[in-house]
Amino acid sequence: MSESIEHVLEETRHFDPPAAFAARANLKSRADYDRMYRESIENPEGFWGKVAEEFHWFKKWQRVLNADAAPFYKWFEGGTTNLSYNCLDRHLDGPRKNKAAILWEGEPGDQRTLTYQQLHREVCKAANALKALGVHKGDRVAIYMPMVPELPIAMLACARIGAVHSVIFGGFSVNAIVDRVHDAACKLIITADSGYRRGAVLPLKPVVDEALKQCPTVEKVLVVKRGGNAVTMQAGRDHWWHETVAPASAVCPAEELDAEHPLYILYTSGSTGKPKGILHTTAGYMIGAAVTAKYVFDLQEDDVYWCTADIGWVTGHTYSVYGIFANGTTSVMYEGTPNTPHEGRFWEIIEKYRVNIFYTAPTAIRTFIRWGDEWPNKYDLSSLRLLGSVGEPINPEAWMWYHEVIGKGRCPIVDTWWQTETGSISITTIPGAMPTKPGSAGLPFFGVKVAVVTEEGEAVDAKHSGTLVIQAPWPSMLRTLFGADDRYKEVYWSKFAKQGWYLAGDGAFCDANGYYMIIGRLDDVIKVSGHRLGTMEIESALVSHDLVAEAAVVGYPHDIKGQAICAFVSVPRGITPTEKDKDTLRNHVATQLGPIARPDQIRFTDSLPKTRSGKIMRRLLRDIAAGKETKGDTTTLEDFTVLAKLREHAEG
Ligand code: WTA
Repeated sequence: MSESIEHVLEETRHFDPPAAFAARANLKSRADYDRMYRESIENPEGFWGKVAEEFHWFKKWQRVLNADAAPFYKWFEGGTTNLSYNCLDRHLDGPRKNKAAILWEGEPGDQRTLTYQQLHREVCKAANALKALGVHKGDRVAIYMPMVPELPIAMLACARIGAVHSVIFGGFSVNAIVDRVHDAACKLIITADSGYRRGAVLPLKPVVDEALKQCPTVEKVLVVKRGGNAVTMQAGRDHWWHETVAPASAVCPAEELDAEHPLYILYTSGSTGKPKGILHTTAGYMIGAAVTAKYVFDLQEDDVYWCTADIGWVTGHTYSVYGIFANGTTSVMYEGTPNTPHEGRFWEIIEKYRVNIFYTAPTAIRTFIRWGDEWPNKYDLSSLRLLGSVGEPINPEAWMWYHEVIGKGRCPIVDTWWQTETGSISITTIPGAMPTKPGSAGLPFFGVKVAVVTEEGEAVDAKHSGTLVIQAPWPSMLRTLFGADDRYKEVYWSKFAKQGWYLAGDGAFCDANGYYMIIGRLDDVIKVSGHRLGTMEIESALVSHDLVAEAAVVGYPHDIKGQAICAFVSVPRGITPTEKDKDTLRNHVATQLGPIARPDQIRFTDSLPKTRSGKIMRRLLRDIAAGKETKGDTTTLEDFTVLAKLREHAEG
């Protein structure tokens, strides 16, 4: 861990909110932000209680926050509500009923529009179909789908009946599905025959079939027809969506659910062990998602909003689905890749749907820079008024390009820091209320009490970066790790147990204006193109191959992807690995986990550097992978020669 890193990068540029933007914004001034922030920290129960009044409740809560069993916090105890109701039914009484909820564009160019009323109808039908297939309140439903409207429909249908969804990113593969379905004991899985990706049909149902051989808890499979590829349907188990959902009744009252009723599980990678099932519950998550969306994206009634994240990640959950529909906003959804059939596809979509708010990831921005300004310059981007970034630190050069070439210098950029665990945006600027600064996320959102501290929990001085912690509970926080309360306590709350702080796992720096700059993970989580991957999962996939005795996986800096994956692999005695074996192993990981986890480099080695207690010294491997001289303390190294050998291999 980098306890106390001297902060050197000094960014002096800053951009004030354009006056016209601030004038009609949901939050118009720094003074308003300061006042609300202060209230949210000094009197969180009063603040959130007032905010919660804006939502629909079947029964009002008795207690805003119950911290008796911390860190197992409870919000809005005694209250009952339903998130699907708040995202849909609430909008049907007024002019929003015929407003577009989803503007969907398929990769081949096909389109679908669903108004709030139509979306409500589809969600009710899907909810009834799930019930008919034996899904009850509290049951877990896995969702493994391409970016088609049935994906948010399926999520909202689960939320409607109190089933707990677990969305598995459509780019994952067999093993990732098996682990996740097994951990949550999912009863049903919703999938599609395939989705469109890079101009071709990418089969999904066959992957599910393969996974289900090892998933005994799954009783039923619901299959959306998208690509039309041939699939095997197992009688009694597999059902087509169009044959099951279409004839179902469109009347399905939203279930009255406890505020703390589990809403979804989303697996995310940590440093050790299998992926963690982050559990979010109903009311606190709803309020956090909706309120951050309203203020950070400054949602206005006539906005067209587009978040490019796949719904399989938390960004899609909160800011393509729940936070957006809870505000009655029109949301663009695009199925495919940004360069199919050409590298101007995103800008074409912005022009076509007159997108006003665009939310994407730094890795995408760096890719667009490489493709050249001629692509965005071909299209009319004048509808844009606000840009957003999420997923990893955005380097100031990419920020400036985004600002100038996409935003034409007119649009504020919100650089939003948050995590699957935080559920909603935690550090950001609010676009009408405060200046932005390239490379800095900004200030904490309402109710988020953050600090940068040393390993011992002391405040760092103004020159140093440290560990980012959150010092008080917030409504959209994770409630636990599914089925693993102890691990929840251990991972997030043990490091600063005395103080009762949440450990974010990131390094950060706070400047003289109170703006937070996030430096990156302090643990073994790798961010490849903004996707969070655990070294352990990749190592397990490698070790499952006969060629591998032991593996250690680390990230290293990459111009486009942010980080790339390097795997150090030792082979069983007697085997001499070849260049071809490297490809074999890279492909093996891709098949097991999905293409995003494919290592960029495989380096064979006789043995891995370890401490005397047998821990792999990842810091050293990271330096070697990055091509840096190995710094730091190596006195605990078990075998000094290992390091020299690893470096030789790197050069060879
Ligand atoms: C990183 C994604 C810098 C960070 C919403 C965090 C960021 C992890 C930013 C969570 C940002 C996310 N600037 N770093 N604006 N946003 N991160 O769970 O390391 O996929 O801990 O959630 O992404 O990743 P996750």
